[in-house]
Amino acid sequence: MQSIIARSARRGFSTSAARRMATEVPAAKAPLMKEFKIYRWNPDQPDKKPELQTYKLDLNQCGPMVLDALIKIKNEVDSTLTFRRSCREGICGSCAMNIDGQNTLACLCRIDRDGSKDSKIYPLPHMYVVKDLVPDLTLFYKQYKSIEPYLQNDNPPEREFLQSPEDRKKLDGMYECILCACCSTSCPSYWWNQDEYLGPATLMQAYRWIADSRDAQGAKRKEKLQNEMSLYRCHTIFNCSRTCPKGLNPALAIAKIKYELSVE
Ligand code: SF4
Ligand code: SF4
Ligand code: FES
Repeated sequence: MQSIIARSARRGFSTSAARRMATEVPAAKAPLMKEFKIYRWNPDQPDKKPELQTYKLDLNQCGPMVLDALIKIKNEVDSTLTFRRSCREGICGSCAMNIDGQNTLACLCRIDRDGSKDSKIYPLPHMYVVKDLVPDLTLFYKQYKSIEPYLQNDNPPEREFLQSPEDRKKLDGMYECILCACCSTSCPSYWWNQDEYLGPATLMQAYRWIADSRDAQGAKRKEKLQNEMSLYRCHTIFNCSRTCPKGLNPALAIAKIKYELSVE
């Protein structure tokens, strides 16, 4: 406290004013209560149907993002609430979920501070659920693996693999994808055909490697997509691009694959 008083005195405050400022506790903000209705399902209780469980939080005692609310509920109210998260800054892609009707990342989604409206939180739609807000992404990762998402070139240069700035630029808007699956699980075609249709996230990554000037397997990659189900189930509805929390445009990448296949 002495250092605060000394600092205030140096700024020209009288000793009594500085002492008052050092001991004053800021007025507590009035509570701003909001209800969160969160999807709950526990595989260990298979007879119990999924339900929305309501939690009330004071937003003035909580961080600004939906992930802050989930962490607060888990830490202070109900430790059984299950969700994935890691980085808390939109990099790992693990906190993808459906918040008030939109697939997005909980760590990038601000809580709507209108306390009169509740907030509904579900796992990503049309996926099997592992528990509560955790979707089963096994098929999603299998599809990603199927496009062989790595550089393939039988004649690599001895030293650096050079790329012109123009060629490097072609990867912008695709390499940033964090594989959160928000886009694929917002795509109606993916909902109904996900056994065969690769979906926007995987297709954009397929094009990311087709467009890479250092990769020598473009023709083979395109040939693999040239069938009715893998690619052409996309009807250019653009749900995927509208929902991407990283602002990417998978529908455009899909359109480019279709175009390249049509002119060959
Ligand atoms: S544009 Fe294609 S991939 Fe994107 S949501 Fe529509 S159908 Fe799905
Ligand atoms: S394109 Fe966007 S929404 Fe789709 S997986 Fe990548 S980051 Fe997520
Ligand atoms: S916690 Fe990593 S993207 Fe949200």
